[in-house]
Amino acid sequence: MIRKCLFPVGGYGTRFLPATKALPKEMLPVVNKPLVQYGVEESIEAGLNQIGFVTGRGKRAIADHFDISYELEHQISGSSKEVYLKSIRHVMEEGIFSFTRQKEMKGLGHAILAGETLMGSEPFGVVLADDLCIPDDGFDSVLGQMVKVYKQFRCSVVAVMEVPEDEIHKYGVIEGEAMKDGLYRVKSMVEKPKKEDAPSNLAIIGRYILTPDIFDILRETPPGKGDEIQLTDALMQQAQDGVVMAYRFKGTRFDCGSVEGFVEATNYCFENLYKKGLLT
Ligand code: G1P
Repeated sequence: MIRKCLFPVGGYGTRFLPATKALPKEMLPVVNKPLVQYGVEESIEAGLNQIGFVTGRGKRAIADHFDISYELEHQISGSSKEVYLKSIRHVMEEGIFSFTRQKEMKGLGHAILAGETLMGSEPFGVVLADDLCIPDDGFDSVLGQMVKVYKQFRCSVVAVMEVPEDEIHKYGVIEGEAMKDGLYRVKSMVEKPKKEDAPSNLAIIGRYILTPDIFDILRETPPGKGDEIQLTDALMQQAQDGVVMAYRFKGTRFDCGSVEGFVEATNYCFENLYKKGLLT
């Protein structure tokens, strides 16, 4: 059983300045819902209801968002506006939230390691909230699809998608041995390669299932690309010592870390969710 999910949310959000000067980027709304809530809902839907956040300075709004606002409850309770609290009330009822702070930003691997106290010695999911993932019709949430892969292989799982050659340098990239149904056994992986060095066009996106031995590996992982401790490097080590699976998920991913992707996600959610009354 996987019950826990880690959200590294310490990053600065420089691409969204000045909006993110005092506001965590994860709290930017896609239509009327903060980006991070989409990720948390996906996690809960996948059965991972123990949610851990690795936060940093200036991120208190995230903790407040997942806590009761008595004043608001008092004002709105019994009124016609109560419907607007529906989704966040559901998330708060279903989820158990804990927080730790990363003092310095030294890369995704460093953030994951900071979450060890929250995840302990169980396998756990990781959601990078910047990547908003909408499953294809009739499929589980992307994390839900990955939990199924984990149950089959009992090893770390990374979500991958095909990206155009000129975008490959933005991602961790895998070299994999193709199996059935969009599954690959990872042979190697590299963080943000030049396009000429990329082993494939399969890019890792921000959904992972990690086995807890990743923490010991991360402790020993030296700084890599950008002089940061890279999760990709630790996963590469896991793949060499054992098995890591990559899964080409059934769904659409929006890169909400970029302004273009954020606007695309907003338009998509407005047309396909909000207008159908699915974003309360
Ligand atoms: C991180 C990971 C990278 C992955 C990406 C997905 O990079 O390091 O391997 O492909 O997330 O969004 P970041 O975008 O945080 O620089």
